[in-house]
Amino acid sequence: MKKVIKNGTIVTATDTYHADLFIENGVISQIGKHFSSDDAEIIDAKGCYVFPGGIDPHTHLEMPFGGTVTKDDFETGTIAAAFGGTTTVIDFCLTNKGETLQSAIENWHAKSNHKAVIDYGFHLQIVEMNEDVLHELPKVIEQEGITSFKVFMAYKNVLQADDETLFRTLISAKELGALVMVHAENGDVIDYLVKKALEQGHTDPIYHALTRPTEVEGEATGRAAILTGLASSQLYVVHVSCADAARKIAEARNNGIDIWGETCPQYLVLDQSYLEKPNFEGAKFVWSPPLREKWNQDVLWNALKTGQLQTVGSDQCSFDFNGQKDLGKGDFSKIPNGGPIIEDRVSILFSEGVKKGRISLNQFVDLVSTRSAKLFGLYPRKGTIAVGVDADIVIFDPTVERTISQETHHMAVDYNAFEGMKVTGEPISVLSRGEFVIRDKKFVGQLGAGQYLKRKKYGTNDQSETTNLV
Ligand code: URP
Ligand code: ZN
Ligand code: ZN
Repeated sequence: MKKVIKNGTIVTATDTYHADLFIENGVISQIGKHFSSDDAEIIDAKGCYVFPGGIDPHTHLEMPFGGTVTKDDFETGTIAAAFGGTTTVIDFCLTNKGETLQSAIENWHAKSNHKAVIDYGFHLQIVEMNEDVLHELPKVIEQEGITSFKVFMAYKNVLQADDETLFRTLISAKELGALVMVHAENGDVIDYLVKKALEQGHTDPIYHALTRPTEVEGEATGRAAILTGLASSQLYVVHVSCADAARKIAEARNNGIDIWGETCPQYLVLDQSYLEKPNFEGAKFVWSPPLREKWNQDVLWNALKTGQLQTVGSDQCSFDFNGQKDLGKGDFSKIPNGGPIIEDRVSILFSEGVKKGRISLNQFVDLVSTRSAKLFGLYPRKGTIAVGVDADIVIFDPTVERTISQETHHMAVDYNAFEGMKVTGEPISVLSRGEFVIRDKKFVGQLGAGQYLKRKKYGTNDQSETTNLV
């Protein structure tokens, strides 16, 4: 079905202009004015922005963690993402020591196939580097199109890898054309601080934050940056929460290291005091790195504005308050780490960022979409509005005011971390490859319509692809 999106204001990471989009065969085939076609459906976007679909580079859907499994899976998670203006997610495929990478990837395909309503890719966790893993990595890149590897420097005895694994992953990534991602916190030091706090009888959620001080994030970020420089490799630091870590990234970039940083809405608008909420409600805000003292928010906003941090991911990792978070009643270290963010990522960044004058409209598009497409081998097919690219489009009303709430959200969890927050701006309709997923704020998509995305190697964004697509 052909479509014309008329009367909207098109916004990309670089430009803002008035034009209409002609969509056929799932791609944008023309950008212009006064298209006439008898067999095209006309969609009026008057008064709205027309953005490229959001790309969430950091999700954990149906992920086993902390003795349970995240509540949102590829069905509810991608539906909620679409409501929020996201048309692509890149999810973390976990691996187990001794298991082949291929088997881990097949497991993740089984979770997502037939469920995802928007397109998706995988990052691959490397928990231990050895000859078997080294042998499999070229196939992971060439056949699966997985061009980013994740190393956890925290979660001792669970997900954590040692520095040798991190270093060897960096070396392999350089050789193979992949981007290494790190969860940067010093897991050994945290493990000691947690044991000490529990011995002293400190069991409340706030001790999650107090046993993971900003220094352990700054130290791990700096260490990962130095190892990246030593390996002449490339690094993406996920969920940067504080000034200590942001500063290490800025320093490394100034020293010529190829390093990128992501932050998340929760670190931009919530703070450590949320973990002190009574009746164990602080557990709703337990994730890692933890929420920080409020002054860090200004540092993070400034880092986004000045380009020291380059993306905003959600780190969607949702657990019900009742029945999952409460596994940690009486022992904060047993609270499953993570929160429900996927649906509100784009709106919060628009409302708190653009509307409040902290970032420009074009920076906003870059932060929620374009930069991730470029870093993770999806550009220009995803992440922009141009002739020949996938018609992943968000029609966004910048004037709607609404209150975020669990009562109206579409995630499967029983709470919303941003409950009661007022935001301005909302996606009205969302298209994935030219088909409506959300139409006039209603879900009209199809389970399994989302396609698995094989991604290009790091640093190889071939513009000629756009013309080949039409
Ligand atoms: O607490 C968090 N962030 N949970 C998800 C796993 C991770 O560390 O990203
Ligand atoms: Zn993490
Ligand atoms: Zn995460």
